[in-house]
Amino acid sequence: MTGPAAESLLSLHDIRVRLSGLQILDGVSISVPQGTVTGLIGPNGAGKTTVFNVISGFVKPESGDVRYDGRIRKHIRAHRLTKMGISRTLQGVGLFASLSALENVMLGGSSRVRSGLVSQSLAMPWTDIETERLRTRALEVMTELGIAEEAERLPGELPYPVQKKVALARALVCDPTLLLLDEPAGGVGAPDMEELERLIRSWVPKRTVLLVEHHMELVMSVCDLIWVLDAGKVIASGTPDEVRNNPAVLAAYLGEEGAA
Ligand SMILES: Nc1ncnc2c1ncn2[C@@H]1O[C@H](COP(=O)(O)OP(=O)(O)OP(=O)(O)O)[C@@H](O)[C@H]1O
Ligand SMILES: [Mg+2]
Repeated sequence: MTGPAAESLLSLHDIRVRLSGLQILDGVSISVPQGTVTGLIGPNGAGKTTVFNVISGFVKPESGDVRYDGRIRKHIRAHRLTKMGISRTLQGVGLFASLSALENVMLGGSSRVRSGLVSQSLAMPWTDIETERLRTRALEVMTELGIAEEAERLPGELPYPVQKKVALARALVCDPTLLLLDEPAGGVGAPDMEELERLIRSWVPKRTVLLVEHHMELVMSVCDLIWVLDAGKVIASGTPDEVRNNPAVLAAYLGEEGAA
């Protein structure tokens, strides 16, 4: 099993989370080596989204450490994530229905605009310049994802796979070092899946990706390293080939099928 390595960009050490009296994460340790696509898989309810919530500061663990970029992060604040170079997509899409696709993407970089104290204290034109820069950057990312033509549309007018791309663009607009993707292929068909695979690989090694995904073909082809969670515990880790043939992993997924 691959332990938390020194060159990890991110690592979790013995994380425990209790919610509503239930032990949701029960001593989870995982590491995400810099410049890799690392997968986090497991049956429904295993705790994958909760791991993302811990990394992003939405859920406070009762014990354990999160290390990021060489430092233990005791109090991760959700609103400081962008500054830390971390961005995240949500399971589903989580777009604002009344904002255009472009405005939704721009929101992903808005703390960058707000963070310019100098621009805030100066007159309007500076803020306009920053907003214009953000608009240009948002359109650049939308072009990279092939959705620039949809910029002025509302999310509800777009097919689901395009909405997923808008959500991806929102995560990319702030130029993150670490990208947390929660089921980016959910509700997406085979051609879009192939494109997603190509896109994700194009982001490394500049960016590091932690990928939660149920589509095994995508996970197995895109990941360098995979961690497997079941019922709040890590049950396996390794290369796609190692994980694919691990009896504990097969049993966990078979158990899920049996329960369905
Ligand atoms: N706020 C909460 N209070 C109580 N239980 C919760 C809460 N949030 C999540 N859970 C439970 O924690 C467990 C793990 O949930 P989580 O969403 O992390 O799973 P997951 O691996 O992302 O599942 P999926 O693949 O279905 O998205 C589930 O049993 C879920 O019902
Ligand atoms: Mg989830």
